[in-house]
Amino acid sequence: QRHNFSSTTQIIPQAHYSVVFDIDGVLIKGKQVLPQTHRALGLLQSNNVPYIFLTNGGGLKEADKADQLSKKIGVHISPKQLILSHSPMRELAQKYEDSNVLVVGGNGSECRHVAEHYGFKHITTPEEVHAVFPSVCPSSAHEARSVPLAEKYLQNVHRPVEAIMVFHDSVDWGRDLQVVMDALTSRDGYLNSVKTQKELHTTPQTVPLYFSNSDLVWSNEYPTPRFAQGTFRTCLERIFEDKTGHKLQYTLYGKPMTTTYQYAEAVLNQIAPVHMGPDGMPRRRSVYAIGDNPYADIAGANGYGWQSLLVKTGVFQPEGDENHHTHPATAVVEDVEDAVRWIISREI
Ligand code: G3P
Ligand code: MG
Repeated sequence: QRHNFSSTTQIIPQAHYSVVFDIDGVLIKGKQVLPQTHRALGLLQSNNVPYIFLTNGGGLKEADKADQLSKKIGVHISPKQLILSHSPMRELAQKYEDSNVLVVGGNGSECRHVAEHYGFKHITTPEEVHAVFPSVCPSSAHEARSVPLAEKYLQNVHRPVEAIMVFHDSVDWGRDLQVVMDALTSRDGYLNSVKTQKELHTTPQTVPLYFSNSDLVWSNEYPTPRFAQGTFRTCLERIFEDKTGHKLQYTLYGKPMTTTYQYAEAVLNQIAPVHMGPDGMPRRRSVYAIGDNPYADIAGANGYGWQSLLVKTGVFQPEGDENHHTHPATAVVEDVEDAVRWIISREI
């Protein structure tokens, strides 16, 4: 079912405010599209309000996700409107141009393809490591692959790992925790080597580690929130500390990190240039972020000076009308349609 919101004949000037949508728990829940989604997008389109999507989800290229989302929601979404958790990590491709990067998460080779698309040249994945060294994780559910991995994907497994980047939720947590720990505690990044206890205590971590998403949980069609990439990180932190006696060092991307909001602002500038005020100076853009996770969507928006609307259709499940205690939103609303109506009425 396709919804055509462009039947308005009257030309409405582009609004001077913008809306940033979270996806999971706001527009969709797993396989289901929330019923308010079409109405919310329709209201913005008929008022000519620019909007983008900023999700901590990922695991595929922006163009593929935009295509998937367009089909699911029934509204055309351009890749230019879509920021995934790992989108700002494209900036790392230059820094690690000559390095072998262990890319973790997602199904099959999808995250490898994302990394290649961003310009990373030397990539290894835990699945590829597992294919070359089956005993790396003998109890893994994915041990028996029906189709062997192509030889071209296995060439970097013997090269030292020079950086680790978690791009998406792990599908095989046991294997991926093991391979990431192997890389972190290896000698000079060689996966089948290990530092001595003394080396581990003096130089515990030589391989830099990045995560694209810090969410502990996310919301799908299951009644209560599900583990997300942040829970995987929590496990890794605990294992690393037990093994080395040191805290795991890492860099975070995704909401609520400022890097991600700076990236989002640049995307907004592309789709909706800043208006000039009567004094000839650029007007400050009002941005409204709609989200379901106080620790990601609301903390991030508040911290960046945007307005924030917290819906009750996802991770945040209050007893009544109360706001979140640690990260209070500008307003708490029932769902995404309520959020959009609240924004429009405020801007009129
Ligand atoms: O893994 C968490 C992620 O799926 C959350 O997505 O759209 O709620 O930021 P979103
Ligand atoms: Mg969400």
